[in-house]
Amino acid sequence: MTSVSEAIRRVLLTGEPRAKVMATRALVRQWRRGALTWDFAVEMPDRPSWPAGLVLLPPNRMPRRGRGGSLRNRIALWHSLAHIEFVAIDLALDMAGRFGAARGPEFVGDFLAVAADEAMHFALIDRRLRTLDSYYGALPVHDGLWEAAFETRHDVAARLAVVPMVLEARGLDVTPATRDRVAALGDDAGARILERILDDEIRHVATGTRHFVAVCRERIETPEILWKMLVARHFRGALKPPFNDSARLSAGLSREYYAGVA
Ligand SMILES: [Fe+2]
Ligand SMILES: [Fe+2]
Repeated sequence: MTSVSEAIRRVLLTGEPRAKVMATRALVRQWRRGALTWDFAVEMPDRPSWPAGLVLLPPNRMPRRGRGGSLRNRIALWHSLAHIEFVAIDLALDMAGRFGAARGPEFVGDFLAVAADEAMHFALIDRRLRTLDSYYGALPVHDGLWEAAFETRHDVAARLAVVPMVLEARGLDVTPATRDRVAALGDDAGARILERILDDEIRHVATGTRHFVAVCRERIETPEILWKMLVARHFRGALKPPFNDSARLSAGLSREYYAGVA
């Protein structure tokens, strides 16, 4: 039998987008069937594989995206969303493979389920892009997303604080406005995709927050205080209001965490 860490590593090192989606689904099915051995001897790569030829730019060198409804702007919007979801697959897989040994089967199952959701999100967006005659990899993408993972590779609390509780929570803040903008352009199918993603992301933030609180309990730390410290130390960006307080709260992220940090 294949070990869980070997299986996860293999998917992380799959770069072709559709192959990564299929491999993620297959991995999650294997996990649920109990077809993987509980063994974490295989290490996660420092960097996962992404599509060959994908042009990575530092965030400050990304071309500015126009907001109007031109085809070019719409492609740029869906392409940037495709990148976020594609990297989200790897972020969830790396969470499970890197920290699973210490955190246990529930943790691994939770983050593999997140990876399966992200693969679905990516597939929906990729399909949207293709109806616009484009595809993931057609435009440059910003290279800041994996940095947060690399920076927090040694500590599960730091990883949870920064990835689900900052990056994914940011998705809760910005997705409603993007959905409304897409709907205003008459793209109802696109708006429905974003609505579905928003629902799933609330669950992802909730999963991350729940496991973060569990780690804090073990370390006898106050979650809100430790979170502020870890974010200050490991997250280079700024926490930008306005916050979607109600979506954040349904994910367990009360204002106690982020009030006063922005
Ligand atoms: Fe997602
Ligand atoms: Fe997510």
